[in-house]
Amino acid sequence: MLGQAANKVKAALSKALEAKKATLDGAEDGKVGERAPVDLSLPGRRPPVGHSHIVAQVAEELVDIFAELGFQVAQGPDIETEYYNFDSLNTPSDHPARDSHDTFYVKPGVVLRTHTSPVQMRVMEKIKPPVAVVVPGRVYRVDYDASHSPMFYQFEGLLVDEGVSFADLKGTLNHFIHKVFGAKVKTRFRPHFFPFTEPSAEVDISCSVCSGSGCRLCKHSGWIEILGCGMVHPNVFGYAEYDTEKYTGFAFGMGVDRIAMLRHTIPTIHHVYDNDVRFLEQF
Ligand code: PHE
Repeated sequence: MLGQAANKVKAALSKALEAKKATLDGAEDGKVGERAPVDLSLPGRRPPVGHSHIVAQVAEELVDIFAELGFQVAQGPDIETEYYNFDSLNTPSDHPARDSHDTFYVKPGVVLRTHTSPVQMRVMEKIKPPVAVVVPGRVYRVDYDASHSPMFYQFEGLLVDEGVSFADLKGTLNHFIHKVFGAKVKTRFRPHFFPFTEPSAEVDISCSVCSGSGCRLCKHSGWIEILGCGMVHPNVFGYAEYDTEKYTGFAFGMGVDRIAMLRHTIPTIHHVYDNDVRFLEQF
């Protein structure tokens, strides 16, 4: 029964194939049947093909650089409690530094995370030192202008072990910056304040456009700020129940979109997130 049916199908297919072959054989000089001439040497039309987004590409590159140094990737929720986003990071509700984060509140006590730093605490609660993690992720702030978007990407790093020093922080970040921006770029560590690190610093790189001689991008200073960092504050270790006599650590955080913008001299952050393929397909 099945064999008979199969033979029928086979016969029908062979017949159709023969018929098509006959028409093609009859065509001369690329003329197929009655249709207009076809130039078979023309290249075909390429179907549009997608690729990963510029921010995803840069985030992956950053992860790879730190993976080589032994860091693992950690993640946390976008919707975060005030405890993880602020309190456990040594930023109680009456702390003036809270005002600098224009926070989206979901409901009392619950926020859209304003930075990836809460993942530091989530990791430290789960594992004991040595800790070496990086955290790529979305963050949210009530902010909108040429260089700010209400949603953007950060990249956090945390290293905790016995004997970790500020020199380790500097060495690690310098290595990373030279990998991303090239061996010639200069770096500068400027004292700064973050509630969850002490001492804290901001890191500048020599301007990628004018190499330090002064231009619009670097506002004629020759330097561009790219990240915040510091030694983990003992109070933060207190919340994590880490022994502050035994362990020290460093942390850092940066905007992934900002790194991408500096790399490719993209003038406004909105190009990055507006999803215009004419822009995105260039990367
Ligand atoms: N979370 C800080 C910010 O969003 C950056 C930072 C991370 C600073 C880790 C120090 C240590 O600005």
